[in-house]
Amino acid sequence: MAEKNYPRHVAIIMDGNGRWAKRKHLPRAMGHRQGGEAVRRAVQAAETLELECLTLYAFSSENWKREESEISDLMGLMRRFIEANLKDMIERGVRLKLIGDYKAFAPDIVTKLEDALERTKDGTRTLAVALNYGSQQELARAAGLAALEGEVTPETIEKHLYTADLPPLDLLIRTSGEVRLSNFLLWQAAYAEMLFVDVLWPDFGEDHLREACEEFARRERRYGGR
Ligand code: IPE
Ligand code: IPE
Ligand code: MG
Repeated sequence: MAEKNYPRHVAIIMDGNGRWAKRKHLPRAMGHRQGGEAVRRAVQAAETLELECLTLYAFSSENWKREESEISDLMGLMRRFIEANLKDMIERGVRLKLIGDYKAFAPDIVTKLEDALERTKDGTRTLAVALNYGSQQELARAAGLAALEGEVTPETIEKHLYTADLPPLDLLIRTSGEVRLSNFLLWQAAYAEMLFVDVLWPDFGEDHLREACEEFARRERRYGGR
């Protein structure tokens, strides 16, 4: 795929589960469940399209503002998702990476996540999942760590971002038609290409990801040059 000029690193703001459910007169939890299926499809599609890294925004640091019942549905889904997909990830050589303060989750989830980190650590492609992630918090943390080391520069900040070991972000996609970043990868998106698609996340599939990569390949990146 490299000769097609496809992105190496794609990030997705997976939005629209609630609206998907509402349109079908279903509870929001069903939207999240179908959203989980879309995650599975996206991870497979990333393999087919030979992406080095797929980063998914699964739970923001602001999502704690939601009703307790919805948060609990999302946590249940996360537990089941890890149980159902870990073996497959290991077999496919997918390395799990977490960005965000995931340690704020329930202890059993933290244990499952850390077990998954350990068991997938030799994978060659990366699935980065943003959990309890906020970009402003990430930047404040990175700047603080850089200051402790004595020098605050773009390079020293970057070194302390959760994403420091990932390839540069090439393409940022948001589903559901909303056109905002919602505190996601503000620094990393500095020169990323952006794509806002009208598809609701539970309807997102391999073809949408392929089309997004094709669109990326047609764009001209300039990085401030001419
Ligand atoms: C995205 O779908 C999933 C999460 C934020 C966890 P939403 O739940 O935000 O769906 P909408 O935006 O209400 O449609
Ligand atoms: C962003 O979606 C967070 C995730 C997709 C996890 P939201 O639905 O929370 O964002 P806003 O509230 O519409 O900005
Ligand atoms: Mg939303």
